Amino acid sequence: MLLHSPLVLLLVLASALPGMALAAPATLPANHDTLEQRIKACTACHAQQERHDAFFPRIAGKPAGYLYHQLLNFREGRRQYPMMNYMVEHLPDDYLREIADYFAAQHPAPPPAQPSSAGTTALARGKQLVLHGDSVKKIPACIACHGQQLAGVAPAIPGLLGLPRDYINAQLGAWKNGIRRAHAPDCMAQVAQRLSDADVGAVSAWLGTQVASADARPASSIALPLPLHCGGVPGSGAQVAP
Ligand code: HEC
Ligand code: HEC
Repeated sequence: MLLHSPLVLLLVLASALPGMALAAPATLPANHDTLEQRIKACTACHAQQERHDAFFPRIAGKPAGYLYHQLLNFREGRRQYPMMNYMVEHLPDDYLREIADYFAAQHPAPPPAQPSSAGTTALARGKQLVLHGDSVKKIPACIACHGQQLAGVAPAIPGLLGLPRDYINAQLGAWKNGIRRAHAPDCMAQVAQRLSDADVGAVSAWLGTQVASADARPASSIALPLPLHCGGVPGSGAQVAP
């Protein structure tokens, strides 16, 4: 995708948002600085009415702890996306937490389903993995952590519906390759490594065909321990032999 080049992104931003409050150290929390100003720089890409460019993930409505962890991950290099790394480079924790809380409280309407050209066999495989996992390959069901409604679980597990299919593919691929990392132990890295490339395609295709209900919200709790221990999830428990 054209917008994936950091240089192009910078140019697009520079031309689209001349007054954008890119948070450089010198501009950090001045008294007149409002949250609205801070998030203007973000909504250029993560718009309220989400855009459907393949790699721009929805952030509105995700659990605050999850969003906060991602901002830390970009700042500390556990996730790589030059524009995101740059934007949060010098931002202090409190500031990131406030931004995370802001987006977590937004609930725009869910985007429409993404038609899939994957065959019925692949879609059935994707559905099977999401709802039931694969005991032979030791892949836990996605819903065991992402919630029965796939709407995520507060505070730290994101929902899986409404994300661009290509974004899901890219994230699972990044975990398989060690480019994306979460707090250790990194349960998603383990899940991703057990998925074949065909499984990744099947899961993302099926997820894309599902639409979240408009009133779906992250669940407030989930049965613990989770099937794998996740470092970023409070109380996710001792690891049960996978
Ligand atoms: C130039 C476009 C752009 C701008 C501006 C931008 N982002 Fe992002 N953001 C992205 C892209 C693309 C990704 C996905 C990167 C990847 O592939 O991991 C992302 C990922 C994220 C994620 C992780 C989402 C998830 O579901 O894991 C968060 C949180 C986030 N951005 C918050 C912000 C905030 C807060 C700002 C403003 C300070 C901001 N972004 C500004 C493009 C942008
Ligand atoms: C053991 C618990 C667990 C299981 C099982 C699990 N996940 Fe996750 N998943 C997580 C956690 C925790 C995160 C947040 C990681 C972080 O903080 O970066 C996550 C994040 C993700 C993300 C990133 C979303 C975004 O917005 O960037 C995707 C995609 C994902 N999981 C897909 C899946 C799929 C597909 C399955 C089933 C095959 C699955 N997960 C099974 C715990 C789990």
